[in-house]
Amino acid sequence: MKSKEQDGERAVSPFLRWAGGKSWLLPQLSVLLIDLEFKDYYEPFLGSGTAFFALKGSHKSFLSDMNEDLILTYQAIKDSPEQVYKALRRLKNTEEEYYRIRSMNCRRTATKAARFIYLNQTSYNGLYRVNSKGEYNVPYGFRKSLKFDRSRLERASNFLVKQNAVLSHQDFEDALASVGCEDFVFLDPPYTVSKDDENGFIAYNEKIFSLDDQKRLRRCIDIIKEKKAYYLLTNAHHPTILSIFGNSGTCIEVHRQSCIGGKNARRGLVREYVFTNIPMKRNAQKEVAYA
Ligand SMILES: C[S@@+](CC[C@H](N)C(=O)[O-])C[C@H]1O[C@@H](n2cnc3c(N)ncnc32)[C@H](O)[C@@H]1O
Repeated sequence: MKSKEQDGERAVSPFLRWAGGKSWLLPQLSVLLIDLEFKDYYEPFLGSGTAFFALKGSHKSFLSDMNEDLILTYQAIKDSPEQVYKALRRLKNTEEEYYRIRSMNCRRTATKAARFIYLNQTSYNGLYRVNSKGEYNVPYGFRKSLKFDRSRLERASNFLVKQNAVLSHQDFEDALASVGCEDFVFLDPPYTVSKDDENGFIAYNEKIFSLDDQKRLRRCIDIIKEKKAYYLLTNAHHPTILSIFGNSGTCIEVHRQSCIGGKNARRGLVREYVFTNIPMKRNAQKEVAYA
């Protein structure tokens, strides 16, 4: 998946920052997908769409997420990147401007999308968090380098058009209803359990994505397999997750370096699980684990 340049295709990178983004997984995905021929592409937990933007070839792509503003932003980037950029370039990266924009209610689609990208780029850690009234409440991030240049938005827009992207704001189960034979589904749900914590179940994300949602996802995977489509799921390294998805396909333990903590950050090795029914050539499991 990463070898777009080798294929003469120019790399397209996500235009958003996203908690749980999967750029670190791209080398592993490229090993797994190297010989896979598939029809349509599905990504029902879209976030910043790291895996989508790394797709090779041309596949009709069904992209969705529960976050309505996120999907509106993708649609605006697909339809009219120039208008979004015009609205975006008027916004200044200062603390005062940040809180002014954060409290704004926009009406036009392009302005709403510009606000979303602006907050994503200038907020603390690029988090998306809303209060009980649905108002975005992440503080200012004091970041110097921002990624909203015109060419990045244009490249993302061209790629969405090229892949014939169909964007929708919906729950993953509804999004997966139309999966057909030989389609490929990339699943990257929010992690319900604390990563790599072997000492029992910790429901730290229970409100966002519950254990019942994980079980619902498992039932969707069974349907995907019945339809003879392919899936690849990434999830937390945790006994509870293994008990839900362990027998759904091949289970691969992958490792990545992680920055733990804020001010006193230190590097740590984090394990995660990948579950998939993609047929694997000999030794691929090892290559994937250590890619
Ligand atoms: C871990 S993030 C995906 C990150 C993405 N793969 C990337 O590279 O940026 C999970 C996403 O799932 C979305 N989500 C949460 N619950 C959902 C649900 N029930 N149905 C669909 N999407 C959901 C969140 O809004 C979030 O964008």
